[in-house]
Amino acid sequence: MQTHEIRRRFLDHFLRAGHTEVPSASLILADPNLLFVNAGMVQFKPYFLGQEEPPYPRATSVQKCVRTGDIEEVGVTTRHNTFFQMAGNFSFGDYFKERAIALAWELIAKPQEEGGYGFDPERIWVTVYQDDPETAEIWRRVAGIPEQRIQFRDGKDNYWDMGVPGPGGPCSEIYYDRGPEHGRDGGPVADEDRYLEIWNLVFMQDVRGELSPKQGHSPVGSLPKKNIDTGMGVERIAMLLQGVDNVYETDLLRPIIGRAEELSGRSYGVRHDDDVRFRVIADHVRTAAMLIADGVNPGNDGRGYVLRRLLRRIVRSARLLGAEKPVMGEFIKVVSDLMAPSYPELTTDLRRIETVAVGEETAFLKTLNTGSVLFDNTAAGVKAKGGTTIAGADAFTLHDTYGFPIDLTLEMAAEAGLSVDEEGFRSLMAEQRQRAKEDAQARKHAHADLTVYRELVDRGATEFTGFDELATEATVLALIADGVRVPAATAGHDVEVILDRSPLYAESGGQIADRGSIVASSGLKLRVNDVQKIAKKLWVHKTTVEQGQITEGDIVLAQADPAWRRGATQGHSGTHMVHAALRQVLGPNAVQAGSLNKPGYLRFDFNWQGQLSEQQKADIEAVSNDAVGADFPVNTFVTDLPKAKQMGALALFGENYGAEVRVVEIGGPFSMELCGGTHVQHSSQIGPITVLGESSVGSGVRRVEAFVGLDSYKYLAKERALLAGVAAGLKVPSEEVPGRVEQLVERLKVAEKELERTKRAAVLSAAAEFVDAAERIGPLLLVAVAAPEGVPAGDLRTLATDIRGRFGTEPAVVVLLGNADGKVPFVVAVNKPAQELGIKAGDLVGSFGPSIAGRGGGKPELAQGAGSDPSGIPAGLAAVRARVAELAG
Ligand code: ALA
Repeated sequence: MQTHEIRRRFLDHFLRAGHTEVPSASLILADPNLLFVNAGMVQFKPYFLGQEEPPYPRATSVQKCVRTGDIEEVGVTTRHNTFFQMAGNFSFGDYFKERAIALAWELIAKPQEEGGYGFDPERIWVTVYQDDPETAEIWRRVAGIPEQRIQFRDGKDNYWDMGVPGPGGPCSEIYYDRGPEHGRDGGPVADEDRYLEIWNLVFMQDVRGELSPKQGHSPVGSLPKKNIDTGMGVERIAMLLQGVDNVYETDLLRPIIGRAEELSGRSYGVRHDDDVRFRVIADHVRTAAMLIADGVNPGNDGRGYVLRRLLRRIVRSARLLGAEKPVMGEFIKVVSDLMAPSYPELTTDLRRIETVAVGEETAFLKTLNTGSVLFDNTAAGVKAKGGTTIAGADAFTLHDTYGFPIDLTLEMAAEAGLSVDEEGFRSLMAEQRQRAKEDAQARKHAHADLTVYRELVDRGATEFTGFDELATEATVLALIADGVRVPAATAGHDVEVILDRSPLYAESGGQIADRGSIVASSGLKLRVNDVQKIAKKLWVHKTTVEQGQITEGDIVLAQADPAWRRGATQGHSGTHMVHAALRQVLGPNAVQAGSLNKPGYLRFDFNWQGQLSEQQKADIEAVSNDAVGADFPVNTFVTDLPKAKQMGALALFGENYGAEVRVVEIGGPFSMELCGGTHVQHSSQIGPITVLGESSVGSGVRRVEAFVGLDSYKYLAKERALLAGVAAGLKVPSEEVPGRVEQLVERLKVAEKELERTKRAAVLSAAAEFVDAAERIGPLLLVAVAAPEGVPAGDLRTLATDIRGRFGTEPAVVVLLGNADGKVPFVVAVNKPAQELGIKAGDLVGSFGPSIAGRGGGKPELAQGAGSDPSGIPAGLAAVRARVAELAG
């Protein structure tokens, strides 16, 4: 049974049982605790916790999941995968254990002809939490599983939580016995290879605190309702139903290995080392494609770094398999073909995914090449000194500067018969990590410890009032200084202020945060320097106390600076205008990749290959300004995501949108985007938009920058002043500057040509003098002279052939030694009659060459070259004279 069919049957089964099918959430759901979504329940967490009312009592989904904890293990065995699909059914306070077990059992045991998976019931084993005899009893009664195939286990195996405080509960796992050829008898307790876990049913009922019941600690509370959360491993079911030995042999991974075999010329299943690389490629390509599809871009930290690592491991593995050429584009295409039936975005968005992946490959291949040179030099150095070990510091440089993973260095070292000081390497890595950690703490919230906010986040969202007003009365919920809660803060101190409501815009969607103040009648005054969101819902005001003391519980007035806000709305609405204009001029493939706007300025990044032409830039600017001039009304409204998409509203890749989305519409179809930012009311309020330029920011991503509003005016005024300066210098009115400059350039060209001609004429007129100065040596006439200083090599040659031409049928030899830029260009020209006397131009060079430290050569009629010692010119001339005399005599 194909994987897509397995998914379909799962969803259909639960749809028939009254569940709502919910699409997979993005892999990068905003949760401060999670790098990537790693279970089906993540998107439903607020429903379990009772923070939000679920729109349906039962749901079913197939969730894309990424777990990257053990990237190094991938491929070494066939058991680890970084990407997998978790099929699940969920009950939010609706049915509980018995129904969950009955539903799972039905799908597992129902024959395939009737729409089930048709597993042999005799081969099914289950495990149950040690304190949960009720569940064991249900398994016996509902599914008829005998006592001996039900095993009790402790919290380590049969309690599930998210690894952090939050929902959790005891669980019951379903296993399939693959048969004695796969391991020992004795059920899952004895051998989890032979008995393969296929489905986990979690009875979600507890609130886990700092310490997990997995380690035997008691839960800190109960959830408002009893819930069900299950997770079935789609890939594992596929492997069993396709009768293959491991996941890499299934229909969604084996074809990637097949493509890698074609591209590398090697076969899977021959050498263990190669097989590891084949599996790394198959696993990582799929994960990378899915991550990029959800908006992750390669980077140096967080999610971006994971993606970068995956992509680099693919490139390196392909290299080690012997693939000479770039491979990424091919691999991405295979994944797209395989996965698109379930994930159509892999087709519709293929161009962008390819661009990102191939861009990283190109960049890495470059560093790989440079890094390999460095490695070779290092290895040679070690060997030359009779050593056998590459220093930790060198391995670290390879890693840090050239992106060489340590295992690559280890492999290359082994191939060169060397070892690596791994301990030294690791201690340098640890130092670097420590530095990074300290650095991160200093930065906004990138990787900072978020525990201090968690309780506040769970308490609920900050109410944003800033769409309607610029000043709002609010209660101080918490104060945080240097990462810890404080009861109060006094003048002169920086403190983070959490309010229940706020009119200040927190940085998001490319719009930077409002500036403003927090005041109270007591004389309290805080300056707001920045506002950031935590977990998308908690506003953190970063402030400096200027006057008085702020205390938790205070009632204050939070105010956004109106001038700042006006500028910010111009910047943000301006960004929408530029985006719309870009798509009008370049077409729908110009997909937004990011943006930033603030008062007076905006920049907009988009996926695009190659530079924009001057015409395109001018068109984008013109279309944007026409839209400003049209004075379009700006409408904002809230709707659901499918409706918004249907209307044609543009969404940003990698952004997670909730059930409700806000749409900003300017000029009807002209611009419609999902956006939570602040905007002007009419497009004319944006003011003029001046596109400054366009540049590249990484592979396949371009950036336009623009000024808006008064900043546009200021910029243009400066340009005008510049032009006025030029006009004054040229003594013409501004409008005549271009004509005047063109004229001047033209005249300059003519003058340069004229000068050239004059110089050449002067040189040639010298020819006559040289002919007169010819010496007779036997039957020959010889001109051997120093040419006028500064005559370049080309002119020297013209001069020499010209002189030679003036001797008619008389045998003649011309030797000119020049002196230009400290060099001695020379030319030897010999006419036919002289050649008949046995004199060859090329041969004569040897006579004077040593004197001027020069070399050169040529044919019998003409030789040329250059020396580097002008002081040897007289000696050179004497030498050539002597030589000619010798030959002529
Ligand atoms: N949430 C449970 C798991 O991930 C089903 O295993």
